[in-house]
Amino acid sequence: MNHSTAPARPDHASPEGAGSGAPHITFDQVKENPRARIYVRRADEALAQIGYTEHGERHVGLVSRIAFNVLKRLGYPERDSELAAIAGWLHDIGNAVNRESHAQTGATMAMQILHELGMGDNEICTVIGAIGNHHENDGDPVSPVAAALIMADKSDVHRTRVRNPDQIKFDIHDRVNYAVVKSFLNVDESQKQITLELTIDNEISEVMEYFEIFMTRMQASRKAAHYLGAKFGVTVNGFRLTS
Ligand SMILES: [Fe+2]
Ligand SMILES: [Fe+2]
Repeated sequence: MNHSTAPARPDHASPEGAGSGAPHITFDQVKENPRARIYVRRADEALAQIGYTEHGERHVGLVSRIAFNVLKRLGYPERDSELAAIAGWLHDIGNAVNRESHAQTGATMAMQILHELGMGDNEICTVIGAIGNHHENDGDPVSPVAAALIMADKSDVHRTRVRNPDQIKFDIHDRVNYAVVKSFLNVDESQKQITLELTIDNEISEVMEYFEIFMTRMQASRKAAHYLGAKFGVTVNGFRLTS
């Protein structure tokens, strides 16, 4: 495959609806679905119990918006962008079951919700394939929607995610998240360059700590960007750390 250009969209990723008889399930329908709402909230509550950073509606809402924008700005069809937003909203619901393998568990839970809403099976497979592959340790960009979800999820690092009110008890994840006062995933469609722009308070966390934690996430983002035919980079306080 030539990685300098976006891979051809496989036929099975074609938008459904037209001709398939399956209704066009919107992002708002998924977001307002009572079962989805409960799963998102309970997943976040479960993570709070084991000391994880915020994974609730703020996180999944932001991931939805970023995933939507990545595909839209790179010129993918509007429906692909909407499927990425839907995957973003549901991507962490598996944490309601267990943090371990939450991507795969969440995919099967999302399948049930989307099926009940009436989404067609091809679109369901696109969404759950993205959800099941969003985790950096065992996921791969298997579609444009999956690639966008990976990039969006890995770019949400921010001090508002830290729940621990006591800075003295911060672990390295808390410190790194708390140190980030601004994060923005910049998609430059003309240069095919996606850049995670971070503003870090160096008094709270060293840049090296950031990399200690986020190296695997950055590698996942780079792989996802390549899948979309783009380069990936990171800037910290205006300095570009990667090519
Ligand atoms: Fe996750
Ligand atoms: Fe997430």
